[in-house]
Amino acid sequence: MPSPVQPQNPPIQTGVGAALPRIDGPLKVTGRARYTSDHRYSDMLIAVPVCATIAHGDIRAIDTATAAKMPGVRMIYTHENIGRFFHINPSSGVKTDEKRPPLEDATVRYYGQYVALVLADTFEQATAAAAAVRVDYRKEAHDVRKELAADGKPKVDSERGSPDAAYAAAAVRIDQTYTTPVETHNPIELHASVALYDSLTQSFTLYETSQAIVNHRGVMSQMLGVPPENMRIVTEYLGSGFGGKLWPWGHSLLAAQAARNLRRPVKLVVSREMMFHNVGHRTNTQQRIRLSATAGGKLTSLQQDYLFHVAQVEASVEHCGEATAYLYGTENLRVTGAPVKRHIAPNTSMRGPGAVPGLFATESAMDELAIALDIDPVQLRLLNEPAIDQSVNAPFSSRHLREALQTGAERFGWERRTPAVGSMQQDGEILGWGVAACSWMAKRVGAEVSVTLSSDGNARVSSGVQDIGTGTYTVVSQMVAETTGISMSDIIVAIGDTRLPPGPMSGGSMATASMVPAVAQAARAAMQQAVALAAEHPSSPLRGTRAEDLTFSGGRIHRRGQSPQSGVAFAEVLRAAQLSGVEGKGKSGASSSDPGADKISIHSYGAHFVEVRWQPDIARLRVSRVVTVIDAGRIINPRTGRNQIEGAVVMGLGMALFEETHYDQRNGKPVNNNLADYVMVTNADSPDMDVVFLDYPDKALDELGARGIGEIGIAGLAPAVTAAVYHATGVRVRDLPVKIEDLL
Ligand code: MOS
Repeated sequence: MPSPVQPQNPPIQTGVGAALPRIDGPLKVTGRARYTSDHRYSDMLIAVPVCATIAHGDIRAIDTATAAKMPGVRMIYTHENIGRFFHINPSSGVKTDEKRPPLEDATVRYYGQYVALVLADTFEQATAAAAAVRVDYRKEAHDVRKELAADGKPKVDSERGSPDAAYAAAAVRIDQTYTTPVETHNPIELHASVALYDSLTQSFTLYETSQAIVNHRGVMSQMLGVPPENMRIVTEYLGSGFGGKLWPWGHSLLAAQAARNLRRPVKLVVSREMMFHNVGHRTNTQQRIRLSATAGGKLTSLQQDYLFHVAQVEASVEHCGEATAYLYGTENLRVTGAPVKRHIAPNTSMRGPGAVPGLFATESAMDELAIALDIDPVQLRLLNEPAIDQSVNAPFSSRHLREALQTGAERFGWERRTPAVGSMQQDGEILGWGVAACSWMAKRVGAEVSVTLSSDGNARVSSGVQDIGTGTYTVVSQMVAETTGISMSDIIVAIGDTRLPPGPMSGGSMATASMVPAVAQAARAAMQQAVALAAEHPSSPLRGTRAEDLTFSGGRIHRRGQSPQSGVAFAEVLRAAQLSGVEGKGKSGASSSDPGADKISIHSYGAHFVEVRWQPDIARLRVSRVVTVIDAGRIINPRTGRNQIEGAVVMGLGMALFEETHYDQRNGKPVNNNLADYVMVTNADSPDMDVVFLDYPDKALDELGARGIGEIGIAGLAPAVTAAVYHATGVRVRDLPVKIEDLL
C-alpha cells in the first residue's frame, strides 16, 4: 500500500503562498520514507547485469558455465533464454528513450549495453558471478567522437524573414560555434527496480524509481505483454532524477521478466558505473550562432544551427532552439537542428533539455555582441525585448524579463560594473561580472485527482503523481488547504502509485501546474457534496437550511455571509449522516488542448547575475556570488521554490565549470564513471545565492497562476558564468566546461 503523508503537529493552517517546510521531511530524516531499493522480501533474488565491453559488434558466444556453478547463483539470462519482450506501439502515446528491449539480439551498439543478467541470493554472489560470465565478441569499428558533422540535411525548427540577407547587410555581426559536452545525471538515489509477479492473476507490482509512473505502466505493460490493469507501478519517494528517471529503461524490464520467469521477487539496483551508460545522458551539442545588429544594438537577424549526438537505434531530440525563437525580437530568424549517430548509449532529457544547452550558445553570443557593440549586456537585452512572440505571432501571457533584468541588476549592484576586462579588483583578486537571461516552457499535462472528505475530519487527496524530492507532497496539500480551508495537518496526501487516479509526469516543470485544476475541481466537488448533505440529511445539524444558502470555508459548513465558526465541521455532518466520507473527482486536460492555446505564448523567464573571482598568479577561479530573478508565475511555496532554484543554480555551475562525461576513444567506455572522477559542485564550490521570485500569477495556465520551477533556474546560468569569466580574464570560453588551462 502507498504510505500517505500527513504533517504531524502543530496544525498548519496555511495554503498557497506559504513558505512551508516539506511535509514529508520528518519521514525522510527519520528513515521512514520508503525508497524503491528499501523494498525487500525473504525470497527475493538479486539481479546484477553484465555489461558489454565493446561499443560496436556482435556477441559470438557467452560462457556462463563457471558463473552458473558459483554459490547462490539461481539463473543466468542472455539473449538466448530471457524470454520475449515486445516493442511499444509508436501510436499508443507511451514514451521510452530506449525502444530496443534489453537482451533482444546479439548485436552490441554501445559500451555498457546489457548482455546478460545474473540472479543470485545475495548482491555479493550475483556481482561475483556477473564478473565470471565470459563474453566472446566480434568487434566492429565504432565512432564515439565528440566533434559532430551533420549526417544529412538539418531540419528547420523555426524560420521567419530573410536571415541570410539581413546578416549580410548588417553593421555588426557575430559568427561563433559553441559546444556543450555529454553530462550524466547523478541523482544520489541510483535507479532501481523491485519486481513482484503474481502468477495466479498474471500481474506485476513494480517498485520503480520513476518520474512518470503512469507512462511507466504503459511501457511495461506493452513490452511485457500484460494488460495495463495487471501492471502496478509504485514510486513513493525519489532521491531525484533530473530527467533520467522520466522514461523507463532496460533494467526495469530485466527485473520484471526475471520475476515472472522465476516466480520470485527480484531486485535490480543500477550501479553508479552503469548510470553512465544504461539510463541516459544529456547529449553533447555543437551550435553555430550567427547574430547581426544595427550599430544601435537592434538585432537584425538570429541564426542557430545545432547538432547533437544520438545512439544507433534511438534518438531523443535535443531541441536546442527551444527558447531561441521568442526570447528576443528580430524580424529575421532561422533555427535548424540535426542528430548525428554515435556508438553511444541512448540520450535522454536532462534538466532543461534543449533550452539549457541552447541558451548557453545564444546567450553567450548575445554577450559577445554586446562587447562588439560596446553596449552594456543588460541594456542590449532590454533593447531587444519583443512586443509579442514573433515565432507564433501571439501575445505573451505574462512576461516580465525586463523587470527580472532590472531587479537583478539592482540587487547585484550592476551599475558599479566597469566593462573593461580585468578592470575590477577586490582584495587582490580580479572580479568578473556576467549576466544572462533565461526562459523555459510552461505547460500542463492531463491529471486526475480524487479528494475525499472523511468523517474523521481528514481530507485525503490522491493522484498518481510523483514527488521527486522537490515538494510535490507539500504543494498538493497546500492546494487542498487553499480550496477547502482545511488545515494542512488534517490533509493526507497519497501519490506515487498507479492504483490512484492517473497523475501527471514529474517532468518539463509541469507537475505543479498540471495538478492545480484537477485538485481544485476534486476538492470543490467533495465540498459541494458535503454542503448538500448538510442541507438535506435528516440528521444534519444544519437540516432545513437551503443548500444554496450554505457554503464551505475554513473547513466548515456554514451560512453564506457568516463566519465559519457559526457553522459546523464537515466531519460532524458526515458523522450525523453515518457516512465514512464523500469523494470528489477532478480531471483536467493538457494546456495544448485549452481553447485558444495557439493564440497565447506561455513561458517562464529569468535573469542570472554572476560574480567570479580570478587569481591569475595561482590560476584559481571561484564563483562567489549569484543573483537570480525568476518570473515563473505564482509561487505556491516560496521555501521549496527557493530550494529548487538554488539547486538548479548549483547544477548550472556544475555545467559551467565541471561536468563532462569523457569517452575512451579506444572502446567507447565512459571513463570518469564514478563520483570521484565525474566532478560535480560541492558545498565548497557553492556561492552566495540570492533568489528573487517576481511572483506574477499567470492565469493563462491555471487558476492559481503557477507555471512550474524545476528547470528555469539552470537555464542561462552557464553563459552568465562564461560572461563573467571573460570579464575577469579576457578569455571567451565557448566549449564547456571552463577548464583552468583555457584561462592560462
Ligand atoms: Mo525534467 S529533464 O523534465 O525531469
